[in-house]
Amino acid sequence: MSDHHDLAQMDLDYLFHPATDLAGHRRQGPVIWSHGKGVHIFDTEGNRYLEGMAGLWCTALGYGEPELVKAATRQMETFCYGPLFAGKGNEPSIRLAAKLADWVPIEGSRFLFGCSGSDANDAQVKLVRYYFNAIGKPQKSKILSRGNAYHGVTMATAALTGLPAFHAHFGLDMSDVIHLGSPNFYRHGKPGESEAEFVERLGQELEQTIETIGAEHIAAMIAEPLMGAGGVILPPAGYWERIRPVLDAHDILLIDDEVVCGFGRTGQPFGCQTYPMRPHTMTMAKALSSAYQPISAVAVPEFMYQAIEEAAGGVGLFAHGLTYAGHPVAAAVALRNLELMEERQIVAHTADVGAYLQTQLAPLADHPLVGNLRGIGLIAGLELVADKESRQPFPPAEKMAFKVAAACMAEGLIVRALPGDVVAVCPPLIINREQVDELVAKLGRGLDRAAS
Ligand SMILES: Cc1ncc(COP(=O)(O)O)c(C=O)c1O
Repeated sequence: MSDHHDLAQMDLDYLFHPATDLAGHRRQGPVIWSHGKGVHIFDTEGNRYLEGMAGLWCTALGYGEPELVKAATRQMETFCYGPLFAGKGNEPSIRLAAKLADWVPIEGSRFLFGCSGSDANDAQVKLVRYYFNAIGKPQKSKILSRGNAYHGVTMATAALTGLPAFHAHFGLDMSDVIHLGSPNFYRHGKPGESEAEFVERLGQELEQTIETIGAEHIAAMIAEPLMGAGGVILPPAGYWERIRPVLDAHDILLIDDEVVCGFGRTGQPFGCQTYPMRPHTMTMAKALSSAYQPISAVAVPEFMYQAIEEAAGGVGLFAHGLTYAGHPVAAAVALRNLELMEERQIVAHTADVGAYLQTQLAPLADHPLVGNLRGIGLIAGLELVADKESRQPFPPAEKMAFKVAAACMAEGLIVRALPGDVVAVCPPLIINREQVDELVAKLGRGLDRAAS
């Protein structure tokens, strides 16, 4: 049954693939991964690829890391599962929370664990509402987000996500979500508008929106330090400096979604240290365990926790929690993952090799298909255009970013096609300079193939 063709047929017969062009999949069949080592992965047909997307922005320490395998095995042997409900604890979760307190730049944080970025952001929505209910402002319930943002796929977080395909047909309740414009200066800056003028326009849009809705109805803004899945969109210069004081002035909390940016991706431990966000709360997942286990965490500051504790007292319990929140195996793996990041100085490595990646990618900005190249640390996006001068996009039916991703695969490189014809690059954080050279060479050849 391990034969590729049998597996492919079983895939077509039984598997429902998430985030997939389902009809296209029925025609083309699956690629099936078999194993991985370091920054390389292999499929069941024997092909080898450089994993230029770290899976889904997550396999930070790469594939086949024996220390993480050991951490999981040890914990499964010792104590495979115990819930954190009703005040029970387990050692890995306690130690992981304490370790995160060292990493996360939000003074006095506590950590609520989950299993995915989506459930953690969903919890964020519930927590800020719980908080404002607790302090006697129950009408503060709406959440600000942006076009092109990605915050997950639960009913609440899909609504926060600012990508139309994630809304269509799902019957989401969008009534408490306010989407502001996308911060993509290249695509949404007006002709002749400077970056500073664009930022000012975004700031004024925020102020006007708050005035129209009423600050008394708005609980929080959720934001990625830089947008990942929406097209690798970096905040324009001066963006956070303009936005943050407006939130302060209206008692609107800032939820920092670090699911992609956290744990070194941007060359600092968190994206909010690369950009001056000064968030109140933070969501983490993905690189938290280098994807060896599904685990997420929400950092809750002391002022919120105190208010929530008091209000929960009136109910008898804080009635939110997942069966697998604080799963000891996931926590043990995440804890060892963070220890390894410290021992191997992964953040410093990311800053160094990330700068090298950006330098090596720079010449691709001149490629005929590339309208805009952007990135920082070990993340980059190439926005493709039909005409560089006018920034004319390709007709959507051409699926140019998908063509480039397919051409890169044929060259032995995994990259990802994102909305807006952006090709994303986000390799494991352990990538070295030689492997960066391999990535850039293959990406260049993939672009050439797709262009011809
Ligand atoms: C910024 C961001 N937030 C949240 C999520 C949702 O995480 P998950 O897919 O683990 O639910 C993602 C997933 O890619 C993400 O990129």
